[in-house]
Order: sequence, then C-alpha cells, then structure tokens
Amino acid sequence: MANHSVTSKRQPARIRQLRPSDLPRYRDHLLRLDPATRHDRFNGYVNDAFLIAYAERCFKEGATVIGLIHDGRVLGAAELHEIANASVATGEAAFSVEPEVQGQGIGSQLFQRVLAHAYSLGYEQLVITTHSNNEAMKKLARKFNARLRFEDGETVGRIDLSDTDSTGFIDALIAGAKASIMSLRTNGIEFRAHAA
Ligand SMILES: CC(C)(COP(=O)(O)OP(=O)(O)OC[C@H]1O[C@@H](n2cnc3c(N)ncnc32)[C@H](O)[C@@H]1OP(=O)(O)O)[C@@H](O)C(=O)NCCC(=O)NCCS
Repeated sequence: MANHSVTSKRQPARIRQLRPSDLPRYRDHLLRLDPATRHDRFNGYVNDAFLIAYAERCFKEGATVIGLIHDGRVLGAAELHEIANASVATGEAAFSVEPEVQGQGIGSQLFQRVLAHAYSLGYEQLVITTHSNNEAMKKLARKFNARLRFEDGETVGRIDLSDTDSTGFIDALIAGAKASIMSLRTNGIEFRAHAA
C-alpha cells in the first residue's frame, strides 16, 4: 500500500464533524475516489456529476458528515442520514476512505465517532448497507457488533442502540477510541482527536 502523506508528522490528522464551509473539501474527497471505491461506496458505478450533486445534497438535507482531515483535505468520511418513516428512530451510516490510506484504522475511528453521534441523537438503531462482496465493510461492521443479514441482494448491518446501558456503551467507545489512537500512532500517523 502506498505510504500517503497522512503519515507525515508535520500536521496531525484530525477527525471532526464537517462544517457547511467544508462542502468543497467533502466534494473533492468523493471525486478522488477511484472507480472501485466509488462502486463499493455507492453500490454501483457513479460519475463526477453524480458525486458533485450528492455532496451538495448531503449538506443541504442535514446529514451529519464526520471527516478525517489532513493537510486541509478530507481523506475519509462517515455520513449519518436519517431513514424517514422507519418504525423506530433509525440512522444510516456510510463510509468512504481514500484507497491510499485504507487499512490504517481510519474506518474504525470514523465508525466509533458516527456510532457515538447516532447514540447522542437518540437513534435507536444504526444501519449500514453494502453490497455482499464488500468484505472490508462487512468486517468493519462486525467489529462494532452489527448483525449482518442478506436483504434484497445487499448486506444490511444493524446495531441496536436502544437497550444499551449508556455508561457502559460510552466507556466502551472511549476505550476503543484510545486503543485505535494508539494503533494509529504505532503505524506512524500523528493523530489528534477532537469532540464532534
Ligand atoms: C470499508 C472502509 C470504509 C474501511 O476503511 P478502513 O480505513 O480501511 O478500515 P480499517 O483500517 O479501520 O479496517 C477495518 C477492519 O477491516 C479490515 N479490512 C480492511 N480492508 C479489508 C479487506 N479488503 N478485506 C477484509 N478485511 C479488511 C481491517 O483488517 C480491519 O479489521 P481489524 O481491525 O480486525 O484488523 C474502506 O475500505 C472504504 O472506504 N471502502 C470503499 C467504500 C465502502 O466500501 N464503503 C462502505 C459502503 S457504505
């Protein structure tokens, strides 16, 4: 795997919720995704025009977007969308990490942050949908105890947030976040965590 500049110690990478003014950074992140990553993320091949419109829609329609930012660029992101008319309050998460920096724990960090955010917004359930051959996403979802099922040709992961003992849950998230930061440091990535 290429040694991307995220490993530089010049400026630490940072994970935070994106602001309205971050829209161009988010759009550019999506545009840098290669065809295979786009396919995994959107469950089909999508062109630049689609991605430009999609980024704008995310920001306009009130999705939460949490990004890993390094040297002014968003290199990875987790989106949290509300599923309208679900029988219980349900958020849907989607992830994109640029190919050059995959496999360094960024997806896991983003997952933790989006999970904590979904919990803080009072969602009772978090779902993740992907195509059935997406082993990386399935492994990531399982890591956070998602129950995976095959539905309508896709794999759907569900995490029940409703009957969680809040203190234990948050403690587990914090412990997990600390472990991941240690692991990012071990891999040479200078990382600084901030509250969303
Ligand atoms: C899925 C994705 C977000 C994971 O991001 P990442 O930064 O590589 O994730 P991590 O480095 O935290 O790895 C998470 C786990 O998946 C495993 N993993 C990573 N790539 C894998 C692969 N190709 N096959 C199997 N497992 C893989 C890692 O080993 C890790 O497990 P571990 O912690 O037990 O070792 C990233 O691969 C991606 O953006 N893919 C394209 C878009 C996509 O598929 N989005 C999901 C649909 S919403």
